[in-house]
This record gives sequence, structure tokens and C-alpha cells, in this order.
Amino acid sequence: MPARPIAVFDSGVGGLSVVRQLRKHLPHESIVYFGDSARVPYGTKSPRTVCRFSIECARYLLRFDPKLVVAACNTASALALDELRAALPVEVIGVVEPGARAALQAATMSNARIAVLGTEATIASEAYPKALRRLAPQTPEIVPIACPLFVPIVEEGRTGADAVSRAVIADYLAPLRTSDPHVVLLGCTHYPLLADAIREYLGPKATIVDSGEQTALVVAERLGQTHATADRANRGTIQVFVSDNPPRFRAIGARFLQEEPHSVTLVAAEEYAGLDRVDCP
Ligand code: DGL
Repeated sequence: MPARPIAVFDSGVGGLSVVRQLRKHLPHESIVYFGDSARVPYGTKSPRTVCRFSIECARYLLRFDPKLVVAACNTASALALDELRAALPVEVIGVVEPGARAALQAATMSNARIAVLGTEATIASEAYPKALRRLAPQTPEIVPIACPLFVPIVEEGRTGADAVSRAVIADYLAPLRTSDPHVVLLGCTHYPLLADAIREYLGPKATIVDSGEQTALVVAERLGQTHATADRANRGTIQVFVSDNPPRFRAIGARFLQEEPHSVTLVAAEEYAGLDRVDCP
């Protein structure tokens, strides 16, 4: 079990921000990653389509006999976690619950409201508010904000030092710039790259929580509990599989991962799409 890889999937390149956190906290683990770059974005798609695509991505990775699957995509975690768990023979960890837990911890310490930022689909699903209320029925005010333009501006390499990204951040987050302190939960793979710019815009009263980082900690804890942590002698690797355009994926992915993956391989549609029946509502 310890030598088996961790499987991670995402709608595209963004999940590499979660892989970066996994590498930081679990440097000896080998990671196999599927980025569905042919069908990104998931954040504008219907729940049924997100569910179908997510199961296909995860099923593709089963060929590597993973010890655990991480749904790095917030949209997939928000819309399809139950179906993924039902469809897969291994444990699946999503990013929503870890992110919600961390936001609650930070909010309790600072007595703050919680702003949840995510894609249109993640916000419409209400997965984060539901998780927050499940974990803490007394959760104070939750402010959900869909930020659909954050994904393309980050992929364009605009992460806060330019007029366009500043204007977009100001447009979405102006309601938070009130006197009240806020915990800002980054509920999308791309948003950690905007964290500094968001912090600068909102000022010191905002505490920023990244669901990806919390997920890496949960994965580390689960591996420890199940005696599945890789041997310290293991040199962890990252093998990436994508459904389209490996060169673009490599170029943009470097900003998310901040290291070179060991390989980036193109996967033909026949290998992942529409192979098996998937049960999505
Ligand atoms: N990976 C997605 C998420 O975390 C963002 C990109 C997309 O819309 O597919 O929600």
C-alpha cells in the first residue's frame, strides 16, 4: 500500500495548486494526475456533466492502482463527491470539507464572517455553506461570491500586478471591503495564485484560507491512519496525463506547481471518455 501512488484529478491545470501542497507536506509520495484540459472549464457546466466527467477522470487513474483519489477540483468536489465515492473502489478525498473546516477554525479565532469564493457551479451548488453548517450549525453569516473571471485571468498569467486583475478583484470583492473582519475561503484551484492580490485589496482584516492546503493535510493524516504513507527513502514523482494540449499545460502548469512534472502525456479520448456507464443524477 505505501508504495502505491496518490491519484489526483482536476478539470485542467488548476489542480496542480493542490499537488504543490501535497508535495510540500508529502514529498515522498508519488502522484499520478489527470487534467481534463480538453473539457475545462467545469465551473460553467451542469451538475450532471461535471459528475460524468469527474468519474471518467478518476476511473482513468485507477489503472495506476492508487491508494487514494483526491478530487482536487472544487467544482467536482462540490457537485460529484458522493457519486465519485459510490463509483470508485478506493477512498476519495475532496477539497470542500477540509476547506470548510479550516475556515471555521479561522473564523472562530477571529470572530469573523466567512466569504466563500468559487466558480459559478460551486457557488450554485451551495456545497461550502452546507459543509460549514453541517460542521458548525451556529456558523455566523456566510457570503458566497462566484468569481468566474478569476480562472481565465490566472491562466493568462495575471495574478495581481496588473490593472485587469486588480479591476476584477475589486469588482467581485468590493462587498467584503466593509468594516467587518472576514475569513475568505478560496474555493477554487486557481484562486491561491491571487491570494496576495486579494490580501492586498482587502487589507489585514481578511484571513485567507486555501482549501488545497487543508486537503493536503487531510491526505497526510489519512495516510498516517491507514499506515499507507510512502517510505521516506522514496523519491516522490509527478506523472501528469492530460486530455489536450500538453505544451500549454506544461507552460501554465509551471506557475501552479512551481516545479517540473516528471512527464506530461496526452491521453486519447477513447481512453477516458464514455467507456463505462456512470451513475449521475
Ligand atoms: N478546477 C476548477 C475548480 O476548482 C476551476 C476551473 C474550472 O472551472 O474547471 O473549481
